[in-house]
Amino acid sequence: MPSKFVTPTFSNETTQGSLPLVEGTIGPAAVDIQTLFTNHGILAFDPGFRSTASCKSAITFVDGDNGVLLYRGYPIEELAEHASFTEVVYLLMHGELPVNDQLSGFKKDLLYYSLLHDQVMSFYRGFRRDAHPMAVMVGVVGALSAFYHDSMDTQNPEDRQRAAIRLIAKMPMLAAASYTYSIGRPQRYPNSQLDYASNFLQMMFGLPYREYVVDPVLARAFDVILILHADHEQNASTSTVRLAASSGANPFACVAAGIASLWGPAHGGANEAVLKMLHEIGSVENIPKALARAKDKSDSFRLMGFGHRIYKNFDPRSRVIQVQAKKVLEHLGIDDPLLEIAMRLEEIALQDEYFVERKLYPNVDFYSGILLRAMGFPTNMFTAVFALARTTGWVSHWLELQGENHGIDRPRQLYVGSPRRSYPSKS
Ligand code: CMC
Repeated sequence: MPSKFVTPTFSNETTQGSLPLVEGTIGPAAVDIQTLFTNHGILAFDPGFRSTASCKSAITFVDGDNGVLLYRGYPIEELAEHASFTEVVYLLMHGELPVNDQLSGFKKDLLYYSLLHDQVMSFYRGFRRDAHPMAVMVGVVGALSAFYHDSMDTQNPEDRQRAAIRLIAKMPMLAAASYTYSIGRPQRYPNSQLDYASNFLQMMFGLPYREYVVDPVLARAFDVILILHADHEQNASTSTVRLAASSGANPFACVAAGIASLWGPAHGGANEAVLKMLHEIGSVENIPKALARAKDKSDSFRLMGFGHRIYKNFDPRSRVIQVQAKKVLEHLGIDDPLLEIAMRLEEIALQDEYFVERKLYPNVDFYSGILLRAMGFPTNMFTAVFALARTTGWVSHWLELQGENHGIDRPRQLYVGSPRRSYPSKS
């Protein structure tokens, strides 16, 4: 980097040679650099977006230093205790909690659009039985754009609403089918008597020849999982959805891009990775060895389910999910040795200088795998469950972006390759 510094001065009002500060309702202010290049000929350099607010959004607020997460202003702990997932979906999409008959109308819409075009099911048969559910979901969700032409005009508000509801309504059957196909079981249809979470559980675990009896403790735990994972401001997958949407791409393609981004082990794939790690650790005695590996910079091993780009304190979701995990294990009478390893690992890591100094705390994925496993989910479905929940956030951000008019997202770069040179003569 050249040692030439340009130090713009910032103020609340734009003055010549300075850059304005923009402020949200809560949270840190941001330097508005939109005119930096045109007026000063320099770019802002922020790989990994550690100091970049990529957009304005009114959906979700995270205060990582204090472990705060708000959906449309409501604390996640209160929503997890009092709201249903369907209410939270309505809240995230529309900005307010449903009142009077808004919730029943919304539930009717979700049910109406929950069926899949029968031909969509034939897509599954093109995949190998051992395909990872996330690989199947990327493909099938993207393929929805080949079926629902009446929700593809991104300029039309009615099309947009229909596409949004369709995606949220169909995702339970899409996700369940990625599992039932892998085990060769026929796919069940949504049941109009059941709520969103229970419906997913019956489509996932129900047998073709027997009525599925919903266990209210499991259904509520799953509803809470959905609430906790519904949105998380500009995370990698949501930013992917927004970036894809900025080019005018259709909503199904945008959400398929989000699913692809979520799959990585640093993001949604971490819940699967946590369980694999706990299995590998195997017993409480092996924890110090695992911690030593996580601290060793020459070893690529990281403590999965620990650390977060934004939270430098407890991830508020991890506390809620730990309570749910204990409740479900107790309810089912399961004595899972992995829970003991997880709790001891957390205890030891939180006293270890390495983790304390770097402010590495358990994140939402640390206990979600144990909970999902207790409920009967195979490990490779964990990230698909995350995608099911996060579809609400992706769709809400997609809708918010359509209401803006900021054009295509097109980051710049700091070129570090060869300067111009001539093609070598061949003689
Ligand atoms: N184990 C060991 N060391 C870690 C870990 C970890 N899990 N996470 C961060 N560090 C260290 C890292 O090596 C670095 O050390 P140093 O300063 O000595 O170089 C320091 O902590 C800062 O880490 P970073 O990589 O700059 O942090 P980041 O903000 O880029 O990464 C993260 C955040 C979540 C990708 C990372 O903490 C991680 O890989 N965690 C494990 C995967 C995980 O649990 N992901 C789920 C995230 S929550 C769900 C979601 O939002 O999708």
